Amino acid sequence: MPTPPLSADPHSHARPAEVSVHHLALDLRVDFDARTLSGHATWQLSRPAGSSATELVLDVRHLHIEAVLLGNSPEGEPTEFELGPDDAVLGQALRIWLRPDTTAVTIRYQTTPGAAALQWLSPEQTAGTRPFLFTQSQAILARTWLPCQDSPGVRFTYEARVQVPADLLPLMSAENPQQLRSDGRYEFRMAQPIPAYLMALAVGELEFRPLSARTGVYAEPATLPGAAAEFADLEQMVTAAEDLYGPYRWDRYDLLVLPPSFPFGGMENPRLTFVTPTILAGDQSLTSLVAHELAHSWSGNLVTNATWNDFWLNEGFTVYFERRIMEKLYGRPYADMLQVLGHTGLLHTIQEIGPTSPDTHLHLNLAGRDPDEGLTDIAYEKGDYLLLTLEHLVGRARLDTFIKEYFARHSFQSMDTASFLDYLRRELLDPEPGLEEKLQLDAWINGPGIPAGAPPVASERFAAVKAALRHWQNGTAAAELPTAAWSSHEWVHFLHGLPAGLSAAQLAELDAAFGFTDSGNAEILAAWFPLTIAAGYAPADAALHRFLTRVGRRKFLTPLYKALLATPNGRERARRLYAEARPNYHAVATVTFDALLGRPTE
Ligand code: BES
Ligand code: ZN
Repeated sequence: MPTPPLSADPHSHARPAEVSVHHLALDLRVDFDARTLSGHATWQLSRPAGSSATELVLDVRHLHIEAVLLGNSPEGEPTEFELGPDDAVLGQALRIWLRPDTTAVTIRYQTTPGAAALQWLSPEQTAGTRPFLFTQSQAILARTWLPCQDSPGVRFTYEARVQVPADLLPLMSAENPQQLRSDGRYEFRMAQPIPAYLMALAVGELEFRPLSARTGVYAEPATLPGAAAEFADLEQMVTAAEDLYGPYRWDRYDLLVLPPSFPFGGMENPRLTFVTPTILAGDQSLTSLVAHELAHSWSGNLVTNATWNDFWLNEGFTVYFERRIMEKLYGRPYADMLQVLGHTGLLHTIQEIGPTSPDTHLHLNLAGRDPDEGLTDIAYEKGDYLLLTLEHLVGRARLDTFIKEYFARHSFQSMDTASFLDYLRRELLDPEPGLEEKLQLDAWINGPGIPAGAPPVASERFAAVKAALRHWQNGTAAAELPTAAWSSHEWVHFLHGLPAGLSAAQLAELDAAFGFTDSGNAEILAAWFPLTIAAGYAPADAALHRFLTRVGRRKFLTPLYKALLATPNGRERARRLYAEARPNYHAVATVTFDALLGRPTE
């Protein structure tokens, strides 16, 4: 069946319908002193039948382009190129002149120290004594370290040579080394075609520990033993995922634990998920995040959102899949807690964005905006909720067959919302008259908020939390509450369920009974600090300070800075803390916080 053309990507200058790239050979030297990557990228080109295009357009942002050559060699014949106007979000179009028969171009280039995808860490920002570098390419930052067609609708295979200082290990979203090489020269290969946002590189003092024949974990030496224990169930997760939706198509699945400034919880770089160390809680309580990134090996990395407007196809399926993996491993009551936590987050996000805002539609319109701004919880939780509603209507067996087929038939392809809806109607909805109306499909995709008729979500374990909250509010001492068997999810739900406006004395009672301020669990801390900030509960100030200056995970920090701003004189305190913490944050986080707090003067 011929695939219909996908919608145009408003976040890329590239025109892949004329000439597209299909293979990359990258050769980079990592310079920690200059904080640059330099070298060359050779792209193999494809022209659709009938195209005789003589111009290749790539995305670049803040790159220093030294030369562009026709063919495979950095010493080849120079060709003309032109850099378009610099858009603050999209960067520049790099227009390269081709001959009609040109099949490859080579670009010699260097990154600039402020490249938004790259975070260069000093030794103090790591768990060890050496510097560290990592990339974060999603959504449109690959272009800040690689001239590329930076659109999720364009896929390519790649090979890379990377030169690093001899005692550091480089890793990519590719076949990875497990040991240092004395010359600091490494070669990588990614044989499956991926979009540019899944290009990734990390370099640091890293060691590897296998977890099973095909899974393992990389981390700094001080972090590795704890990480290996935390992720002991990784192979079971991969097996559970395969049982649900078909074979894992990427060969190995490894994790890389980054230093705490990593701005996300996790990033699904193929073969090598990047994760924040804030999920190392010591009790495996936060590993649903790993199930999430693993699930992207199907939803996202195999079948990829065609543009960022279709982001829900990546994240909604992934959240649904994540919870199914967790259910298989730890049972329904456990997965139900995750579902309710997600649902509570969704209601909160809808309130925050505005219940009638088009940004609460599943199909987004992000043209003219930084995609990072519009990529909210909606895609994740409303997307998941649509699939849950479908499950409710057609039953698990039918939905699972549908999803498995969907991944199998569209492997290594991109998908936009319109094509997905066609496929959904054809395979699942149309055969049953009235089903689409019952589902209210259009309201989910093109309407705000949550359509009526979505099934309720509930958790039996959280019913006990609610009872405990009620008892405490009715005068039972905190220390008397039956909390002994609670996981961190119950604690987070408990903290979210506390009434607004608690006094410092009330928080002191809770803290004495449950030790929130000293918790080693980042989710608990992130739920606790907004209360302590609002109440002016000073005993938590030192822990809050440590959290803000050490952790760079945007999802945790945003509510904390907002809570600070909401207190009397909070703006000044927030700005002071931010000025101190900012050097430890990645550019994707500082963009958000500069907008919230104002950029501190250095
Ligand atoms: N792919 C996302 C992270 C992302 C999204 C980066 C958009 C840049 C732009 C990743 O899979 C993700 O969703 N991470 C979540 C964790 C997850 C358990 C919800 C995060 O980092 O919080
Ligand atoms: Zn995700």
